Amino acid sequence: MAKILSGKTVSARVKEELKAEVAELQKNGKTTGLAVVLVGDDPASKVYVRNKEKACEETGIYSEMHRLPENTTEEELLALVDRLNADDKIDGILVQLPLPKHLDDSVIINNIRPDKDVDAFHPVNVGKIMIGDYDFLPCTPAGIMELIHESGVDVDGKECVVIGRSNIVGKPMSMLLLHENGTVTTCHSHTKNLKKITSRADILVAAVGIAKFVKGDMVKPGAVVIDVGMDRDENGKLCGDVDFEEVEPLAHAITPVPGGVGPMTVAMLMRNTVTASKKHMK
Ligand code: GUN
Repeated sequence: MAKILSGKTVSARVKEELKAEVAELQKNGKTTGLAVVLVGDDPASKVYVRNKEKACEETGIYSEMHRLPENTTEEELLALVDRLNADDKIDGILVQLPLPKHLDDSVIINNIRPDKDVDAFHPVNVGKIMIGDYDFLPCTPAGIMELIHESGVDVDGKECVVIGRSNIVGKPMSMLLLHENGTVTTCHSHTKNLKKITSRADILVAAVGIAKFVKGDMVKPGAVVIDVGMDRDENGKLCGDVDFEEVEPLAHAITPVPGGVGPMTVAMLMRNTVTASKKHMK
C-alpha cells in the first residue's frame, strides 16, 4: 500500500500559512493582488481560473478576473497587460494558457513585467531558475517538489525520471530535481527504451498528457510516483497519466488524480503572489 500524497491536505496547509502572511502585509498597509486573464472559453481553462479565484478568496488575496472574448487581438491583450504592469494594486499577473491559436503565447508572456510574472514563464525568470538564483518557481514543478518532500524521500543522489519536456512542467521539473542533487533523465516522445529508463527511477514524474500511460511494469517497486496528468479514461472519467490501480500497490508513495498535483499548483501560485507582494512593499 503506497502512501497517498494528498495535494488537498498539503495545499490547505500552505494556504493557511499564506493567509497569515497576507494579513501581516495588510497590517503594514500592503494589499496583495493577483490579476488572472482568460481569453476565450476553453472549458478546462475556465475551471482552472475559477480554482485560482477561489484560492485568492481563501488566502485573502485581492483578485481581478479579466475574461476576454475568443477574438481578442494581440494589441488589445497587450494593452491589458500594460495596464496591469502599471497597476500598483496588482502584484502578480497570470495569463491562462493555452491562448487561442491567433495569439502567440511568447509575445504576451515576454510583455509581463518579470517581477509580476507569478507563473515564472518570462525568459528572465526561466534564466534565473536555470542558474538557481530565482524569485519565483514555476507553480506545478514547485508544488511537485512539496509533494516529494511530503513522501519523506530525499531527492539527493536519487535516480529521477521526468516524462515530458514542456516549458510549463517537464523542463523546469527536471531543473528543480537537479537543484536538489537528483540524477535526472528527461524523457519525451523520441525517447527509446522508455520502460527501461522509467524502471530505474526512484522518483518518477509523469507529465505526458495520455491517460494511464504509465503501467505497473514501467515502475520500480518502492518508487515515488507523481502524476501531473488530467486526462479522461475510455469511460470519460477523470484520470491521470499513471494507471493508478496497477502502480499504487508497488509504489512507496503516489499522487492521486484529482486531488494531487492540481491543488498544489494553485497553492504555489498564491505563494508566488505573496512573494511578489513582499518585494513590492520594499
Ligand atoms: N495552463 C496550464 N497550466 C498553466 C499554468 O500553470 N499557468 C498558466 N498561465 N496557464 C496554464
